[in-house]
Amino acid sequence: MALVSAGFTLPGYLAEALTVSPAVTQGPFYPLAKNIPLDKDNDLVQLNDSLILPAGIITQVSGRVLDLSGNPVRNALVELWHADQEGDYLYSANATRNPACDPNFAGFGQFLTASDGRFRFRTIKAGLYQGRTRHYHWGVTIPGRTTRTTTQTFWNETAIGTNGSVWSTQNSNDNVYSTISNAAQRASVLLDFTAVPGTTTGEVQATWDYVTDLTPAEPTYPDGGSLLVSGTPVAGPSGANPRFRIRVPAHAGYSYEIYGNPSLADLAWSALPFSLTAAGAIDRQIQTAGAEGTLDLYVEQKALKGFYHVSFRVPGANTGTP
Ligand SMILES: [Fe+2]
Repeated sequence: MALVSAGFTLPGYLAEALTVSPAVTQGPFYPLAKNIPLDKDNDLVQLNDSLILPAGIITQVSGRVLDLSGNPVRNALVELWHADQEGDYLYSANATRNPACDPNFAGFGQFLTASDGRFRFRTIKAGLYQGRTRHYHWGVTIPGRTTRTTTQTFWNETAIGTNGSVWSTQNSNDNVYSTISNAAQRASVLLDFTAVPGTTTGEVQATWDYVTDLTPAEPTYPDGGSLLVSGTPVAGPSGANPRFRIRVPAHAGYSYEIYGNPSLADLAWSALPFSLTAAGAIDRQIQTAGAEGTLDLYVEQKALKGFYHVSFRVPGANTGTP
């Protein structure tokens, strides 16, 4: 009865069934730090407080980050960036953002997976640009790693340009898709989109799991425990909204970023739209501590569960630039 070897346990079978997501070039348009929008949450359609939607078909992608054995990976940073409907990226070497990019399109978003490994994005269908078929760019940073792994996903359909004609570059002759040599890996990044039930606006969705062959290793915070911090209500500057102060024990060189919880039912962490400086100016979310001590971060948004999740990255870790 005890003859079954360890090699035939369930995780072993799963390991053979899962296909590692292919490592694919990051490409030249990963946004520079100055390009990344202050609102970099997982909703690329809603930019800051704008009520105007970007042009394009609203598209949702949800899935999980999994290790080779099929275990969910929590605290994985998932980044998504892609072209607007006209094929223009947010990226600009010369400006804060590419002036040609749809001003209502965030162009970049991020999500931190919860214990079930899940992520979710709402965005638009990527536009086509010269030399490429239609694609999304993804970056995934596995806990314990200082760099992101990049890949791209594609549409399982004929690419049609905005003028209605068949685009010159299809998956079959795309110099990224067609050069993923492993057939199972190629198939794993080819997504089928279906209509979102109950919507009449042509909204579509797909699910996609990112499978890593890296072993997640969550760094232990020097103070131990997790950084779940309740915010202290404080008055804002004259004429401004009140805000919440989030005080964390800080260590030199560590970077901190605030996440709120979007709902009680969903334990995944969504990046808050932006953080504020003590003086009340809108600031980037990531703050790197210059010294040991405490670091105060401020946000306007009340924590829905009564506390904020402060994500930390070890000194030298990827903080949003290549
Ligand atoms: Fe691209």
